[in-house]
Amino acid sequence: MTEESSSACARAHSNIALIKYWGKREQYLNLPAVGSISVALDALYSETQVSFSSTLAADDVQLDQHTNAKSTQRISAFLDLIRHRAGMDLRAQVRSRNNFPTGAGLASSASGFAALALAGAQAAGLELSARELSILARQGSGSAARSLFGGYVEMHRGEGNKGEDAYAEPLLDADAWPLHLIIAITDEAPKKIDSTQGMQSSANSSAFYPAWVDSSPDDLAAMRNAIEQRNFTDLGELTEYSCLKMHGLMLSANPGLLYWNAATVALIHRVRELRQDGLGVYFTIDAGPQVKALCRPQDSDAVADALAQVPGVKALRSTGLGPAAHLIDSL
Ligand code: DP6
Repeated sequence: MTEESSSACARAHSNIALIKYWGKREQYLNLPAVGSISVALDALYSETQVSFSSTLAADDVQLDQHTNAKSTQRISAFLDLIRHRAGMDLRAQVRSRNNFPTGAGLASSASGFAALALAGAQAAGLELSARELSILARQGSGSAARSLFGGYVEMHRGEGNKGEDAYAEPLLDADAWPLHLIIAITDEAPKKIDSTQGMQSSANSSAFYPAWVDSSPDDLAAMRNAIEQRNFTDLGELTEYSCLKMHGLMLSANPGLLYWNAATVALIHRVRELRQDGLGVYFTIDAGPQVKALCRPQDSDAVADALAQVPGVKALRSTGLGPAAHLIDSL
């Protein structure tokens, strides 16, 4: 019997939502209950190699050189979607690495599943459009659908029950309106309650959940408008608003979900003080304790210097807006 094998490697950048995705309208296909708008982050990315081979009896997955049964199961289920679509049954070796802490609210599942979708589809010989790749990546993780694209990106909630209209697409290139983010890391440990569980608990137990879903189209329209007009103040205010609204929803779940620590709160206050002092800076926070401060590129050093002094800040990352996911030669 001849050996069959094929391999591909991809890099996908992490993203941060300005208008947040939180909640699903369907679990199995991972259909979001709300649309979202994000920006790609240049300095944070995942690189993933997928090698299908007839010599493997099972999928062999290593993330940042570690094997973890839960991640292997989630990635194997995702590879099944690719195998099914390609009409093949080869097992795969997957090697993936992040250049930032995994699972700590820096969107590792977004860049990870986007890189896996791109490398996996290529290695399986599938010829998928960017939209089809985004739909595929969504089934790994909702925010991953956005990480296929660079710059400013919108994810559509979609209405169909097969997920054909729940995809992301670019709104504006990174170069068309450069912005900068300072990421203040306050805790590198993986979070205890992942986004999938947190969303489920919010939807099942918060009295605010219907209002969150109903008010989402207005937030998306306002953000689309701010991006179109390149209105930084509107973009910043809407970003903070969507962030705090999502965390308010999380807090109102039963039991309440609190992803912040003392340094997270100190950073929120500091960003608002800096703004009062005339610096254009706004915060956003995902399902974790890190704070991402959004500013114009010319203000990034001043923002970084100020945030570095907030007690409890362990490290800072500084990044502009990033490009779309792309194939690379090797890991
Ligand atoms: C708070 O995309 O990680 O970062 O679809 O269940 O994998 P799953 O969730 P995930 O959730 C991201 C939530 C968020 C907000 C956002 O990125 O829009």
